[in-house]
Amino acid sequence: MPATIVVACDTRELIGLRGRVPWDSREERLHFRALTLGKAVIMGRKTWQSLPKAFRPLPGRTNVVLSHNREFRIGGPMVPQDHLRDALHPDVSGTTALVCESLTAALGAYPDAAVIGGADVYEQAVRDPAVTTIRMSFMKPCVTAGKYDVTAFPLEERAYFPSPSALAEQCFRRGRIENHSEFTDVTWVRQ
Ligand SMILES: NC(=O)c1ccc[n+]([C@@H]2O[C@H](COP(=O)([O-])OP(=O)(O)OC[C@H]3O[C@@H](n4cnc5c(N)ncnc54)[C@H](OP(=O)(O)O)[C@@H]3O)[C@@H](O)[C@H]2O)c1
Repeated sequence: MPATIVVACDTRELIGLRGRVPWDSREERLHFRALTLGKAVIMGRKTWQSLPKAFRPLPGRTNVVLSHNREFRIGGPMVPQDHLRDALHPDVSGTTALVCESLTAALGAYPDAAVIGGADVYEQAVRDPAVTTIRMSFMKPCVTAGKYDVTAFPLEERAYFPSPSALAEQCFRRGRIENHSEFTDVTWVRQ
């Protein structure tokens, strides 16, 4: 399967506030788990740091953390991008974490990876032809309404996913739509 973006957003494409996801939905977390288990998950350094320590690395997945910083460590030595493929033999029953300097290298090493954010990484991934599908969870008002006031946060503390018109510019078309209690699962496919 080709690389897929997995994202949850509210109706205004908001995905994060002050470095955190501003809602809590067990149903959506289980959906995320089902979509990513056994795969490589590629994420930005800030998203990695936003994960609760008990959940990082995300279990049962090869965690690939993007950083330009050669000094950045997640517990093991940094694996240079040239050695990414040789250094790791993904074991879907176990969990591995590594740092990579390049989204292209990460997608090259794990062509069926799930790209799991954040905003900076999503922005690049929608432009990368190796990413052909987006699984977007549109959170429903029952989960988001009254939980946060976006206007109380300065712009630099808000994280957004590209809008439907920006996705259309990258030739994504809306596909299957599946209704769940707390979110709507929308699949976008690159044409
Ligand atoms: N709702 C959702 O589905 C969802 C999912 C994930 C995250 N989020 C939210 O998104 C927000 C974080 O997003 P963000 O945009 O601030 O940060 P981010 O995308 O998680 O991380 C950005 C960092 O990743 C590294 N990076 C990005 N592209 C790279 C590349 N091509 N090569 C090498 N390194 C690269 C850089 O790290 P260095 O600075 O170390 O070089 C960059 O500063 C948080 O609020 C989080 O909660 C939401």
